[in-house]
Amino acid sequence: MATIHDLAEYLGQPGGPLAAVIELFPDMVFVVDREERILHINTLAARSLDGTPEQFIGREQSALFAPPLGARHSQFIQQVFRTGEIVVTETHQELHDTPIWIDARLVPLKAARGEVRAVVGIIRDVSARVRAQEALSVREAYLRAMLDNFPFLVWLKDIDGRFLAVNQTFALSCGRAHAGDVVGLTDFDVWPKDLAQRYVDDDRSVMATRQQKDVEEPIFTEGAPRWYETFKTSVLDQQGKVLGTTGFSRDITERQRLDEQLRAQREQLRALAAHVESVREEERVRIAREIHDELGQALTCMSMDLAFLDKQLPKGNAEAAARVSALATLVKDTVKTVRRISSELRPSILDDLGLGAAMEWLAHDFATRTGIDCAVSVPSNISIAAERGTVVFRMCQEALTNVARHAGASHVSIDLMIDEDDRLSLEVSDNGRGITDEEVHRPDSLGLLGMRERAALLGGVAEVKGRAGEGTTVTVRVPLVGSPTHSSG
Ligand SMILES: Nc1ncnc2c1ncn2[C@@H]1O[C@H](COP(=O)(O)OP(=O)(O)OP(=O)(O)O)[C@@H](O)[C@H]1O
Ligand SMILES: [Mg+2]
Repeated sequence: MATIHDLAEYLGQPGGPLAAVIELFPDMVFVVDREERILHINTLAARSLDGTPEQFIGREQSALFAPPLGARHSQFIQQVFRTGEIVVTETHQELHDTPIWIDARLVPLKAARGEVRAVVGIIRDVSARVRAQEALSVREAYLRAMLDNFPFLVWLKDIDGRFLAVNQTFALSCGRAHAGDVVGLTDFDVWPKDLAQRYVDDDRSVMATRQQKDVEEPIFTEGAPRWYETFKTSVLDQQGKVLGTTGFSRDITERQRLDEQLRAQREQLRALAAHVESVREEERVRIAREIHDELGQALTCMSMDLAFLDKQLPKGNAEAAARVSALATLVKDTVKTVRRISSELRPSILDDLGLGAAMEWLAHDFATRTGIDCAVSVPSNISIAAERGTVVFRMCQEALTNVARHAGASHVSIDLMIDEDDRLSLEVSDNGRGITDEEVHRPDSLGLLGMRERAALLGGVAEVKGRAGEGTTVTVRVPLVGSPTHSSG
């Protein structure tokens, strides 16, 4: 057995500088001879086994470990004696029922001739690190599972555009079986060239601007194009240095298709509504004209004939004279009624004198019929296509009908203006109870919906706003020119 004196040349004097270093070492340290007897042990190591260095010196190294581990270390120690080379191991044992992980470094102490005289064991408890690593790998497994089951393509690229990680959805969509197959590749390895170039350009711009990028783009691979919505952003370290990019992308082809369908259906409905509206308008014009012309003419004839009959009546027939005169009055009233019905259907003034005059007539007629005071202001001449003018007129009529029916107002004002953008602007405001937001957006507020739709058809907007107790304002803005988006045929 080697003695402590033989090792003096390696360890220094007992209590000397090297021993002092070993004592100060933050790891557990012991020295054994070829028989694996403990020559030296630091306090840290002895204390971890609830003892003092003196209690361990002279005992076998196996006293330091649980039995199976003692046997394994024995093998390693003998290996160091044999080969003269350092052995590094990581072992695992139960200590008081808690698993611990030990990193052991076994270092040869050689004599001048190179012969191994003793082995220094440096032991470190790495349980905390191993546990942290295990926790990390569990977390990684969770993340992995989450990402792989994500219906989006997810990726992480380094600064040169190499994939560091992708999820399974990504791998499948670029024709690879496993996510791992994509790691280390670039966009050019997995996508068609022009697509890859676009992605690389996007990455560069994201890294340069450090801003997120959201794009909806069609992707043409084989077959019909598919639409993707992609979010990209740069990955920064804690100092703000760019490390690479990350992003995810989802297939929105189906959503796009439904959106498109919905848009087309809306367009169709709008066109249908416009068609119905214009047919209705033509019908009104026709009926108004017929009532006016045919009935009007018949009534004029009757009135002339009555005047003739009145003259022909024999004098003294008071009763007959009274009847003829009553009949003449009735005919006159009927002429007025016919005129009223005809102009309600379609005010001829709209065709004859244009929108401004028609609005003035409408305001006057409204005030007379409802008793609600109605102020009107129109520009002196408005040059607007006849069918556009009619639509605006009808919207104004609708707004006034609402005032009469719902507002409880005593005053309403109509303002027609040409604004700075060459748009016709119509404002109808009353001083009634004020429409609520809920009423504005109620699905059965079809009159208001019709107004918005008519405005949209002319490339404009209609807005309705109310303030409780203060009244309601309908604002319509439409371009003066432009063809309606529907056909009236
Ligand atoms: N000027 C207004 N003041 C107060 N409430 C209003 C006014 N205009 C509309 N409303 C409210 O908004 C609702 C919706 O109006 P909308 O014109 O869409 O339908 P309506 O007038 O009830 O029926 P119609 O389809 O015959 O026009 C009305 O029922 C009413 O409650
Ligand atoms: Mg209405």
